[in-house]
Amino acid sequence: MIEIEQLAKTYRRGDQLVTACTVGHLSIGRGEQVALLGQSGLGKTTLLNMIAGIVRPSQVRKLLVADQDLTAMSESARDRFRGRHVGIVFQTFNLLMPFDSLENVMLGALFGQGSNQHTRERAEELLRRVGLADRMHHLPGELSVGQVQRVAMCRALINEPQLILADEPLGNQDRKTGGEVLRLLLEIAGEEDCTVVMVTHDPESAAMMQRQIDLADLRQAS
Ligand SMILES: Nc1ncnc2c1ncn2[C@@H]1O[C@H](COP(=O)(O)OP(=O)(O)O)[C@@H](O)[C@H]1O
Ligand SMILES: [Mg+2]
Repeated sequence: MIEIEQLAKTYRRGDQLVTACTVGHLSIGRGEQVALLGQSGLGKTTLLNMIAGIVRPSQVRKLLVADQDLTAMSESARDRFRGRHVGIVFQTFNLLMPFDSLENVMLGALFGQGSNQHTRERAEELLRRVGLADRMHHLPGELSVGQVQRVAMCRALINEPQLILADEPLGNQDRKTGGEVLRLLLEIAGEEDCTVVMVTHDPESAAMMQRQIDLADLRQAS
């Protein structure tokens, strides 16, 4: 599902070169549920954004995601690829405030195959599945943090993606609620043969995944 070799992102700040992320080698198979573990500032978000095709690497030998060579794709091709095949749960959830839960989940489909009756049915089904049957028409401001997180998760799943990328999805909330949401995500992803890659600084949430990889070890690998 993911094959990475010699990947790096550096930023220039004035006359300084800042290395945001380096990965020597990383291979993740279809259907795997993997945690990438690393302290704050180690490049977790940068790595996820490169896998998602949002951030372009400064150096790369190989970057294959879902059998597609991202290095050979234009920005608009990467955007289309992401819309169809990748679901993302952002660190800050990024729900659109004027839209209710159901609309926020369905909006995820705009960048995939487009909205239709099937989209609405899947959105309702996902929201029911995560316990939000009676919150479909609440606005984000009328939901608890845990409920917002569930809506964000349903939005990531709406297009039946091959790959889910989650950036510290448990945020600062307590592990009991957060852990429950992550369990649901892993359960649905497992049923749909969807690969899940989560980055986190928290060893306990990483332990919920099948496989844990230390980001610091990836830097050394060549
Ligand atoms: N746009 C940018 N310009 C300059 N430096 C950046 C930029 N984005 C990230 N960095 C730096 O790269 C490092 C890794 O950032 P990030 O990927 O957000 O880490 P993490 O998600 O692991 O906390 C940090 O030191 C950060 O300051
Ligand atoms: Mg981050």
